[in-house]
Amino acid sequence: MTLLSLLALDHVTRAAALDEVAAFLDRSGVEDARRDARALLLAAGGFTAAELLLEPTAALTGAAREKLRDYAQRRAAREPVTRILGARGFWTHDLVVAPRVLDPRPDTETVVELTLELMRERRLEPLAILDLGVGSGAILCALLAEFPNARAVGVDLSANACAAAALNLSRSGFAERAAVLRGRWADALAARFDLVVSNPPYIASGELDALEPEVRLYDPPLALDGGADGLDCYREIAAELPRLLAPMGVAALEAGDKQARSVVALLAENGLEPAGIRKDAGGRERAVAARRSSS
Ligand SMILES: C[S@@+](CC[C@H](N)C(=O)[O-])C[C@H]1O[C@@H](n2cnc3c(N)ncnc32)[C@H](O)[C@@H]1O
Repeated sequence: MTLLSLLALDHVTRAAALDEVAAFLDRSGVEDARRDARALLLAAGGFTAAELLLEPTAALTGAAREKLRDYAQRRAAREPVTRILGARGFWTHDLVVAPRVLDPRPDTETVVELTLELMRERRLEPLAILDLGVGSGAILCALLAEFPNARAVGVDLSANACAAAALNLSRSGFAERAAVLRGRWADALAARFDLVVSNPPYIASGELDALEPEVRLYDPPLALDGGADGLDCYREIAAELPRLLAPMGVAALEAGDKQARSVVALLAENGLEPAGIRKDAGGRERAVAARRSSS
């Protein structure tokens, strides 16, 4: 029986729907099909994982079946669960995941961790923070939660990203401490910042076509394409950092796989002192920091 025919039946139990959607996603090439089927079923049915466990034979409502069918077909077309549900947990926040804006990834929390490590003693200061390529606002939401007296500016070239960042910052309670500007990196900024963060596009142009469909089809190219060797945006950002960083200022950048050492070298070429590299949960060097040199 196909997914469509099963979910069209009047009486489908939660457990049967889970099995059927998991099998359908598996046949469609989705990697962790059962995990995703479960997440979609819980969202479509409006019940918790505990309720699924305790009442597996309860019937799905017509509305839940309809929703689940739509969700399953979208996931089979390789749309990520976070985009289907429009939400993603990042650090301590539930963020809106908007179309044509990069879906923030757990690895990016490494930038937040490195920043906290380096700036722990300044946590309560009224720091000025800048995020270049703010995207959904994920990094700024995390930093404004951890640095309760800081103010932040986020810049992005994409109007969709600016709207998503403004929405997430406001929903997380930071509208008063954050501003979002549309523009090219720091072109419109003359101020200095205590902390500059960025997760710039870093995929080499020639590798874009080989990305998994969840990324290639749904994340915007502007958020991915880092030029011929993937390092173009780092070159542009590193050249701007000396004029953007306040005395004692720190820059923390996410780096793509195996790029960390090259990013450190680019920062050093621009007169910045290396301040640390941090690995992500998978053991890859993911976040790189540098300081304005004291001289
Ligand atoms: C990899 S995404 C990071 C988004 C977000 N900071 C995060 O970590 O989830 C890179 C972001 O940089 C933006 N971007 C690309 N080129 C830019 C430029 N020249 N000036 C400003 N933003 C740019 C993209 O629109 C995208 O939102």
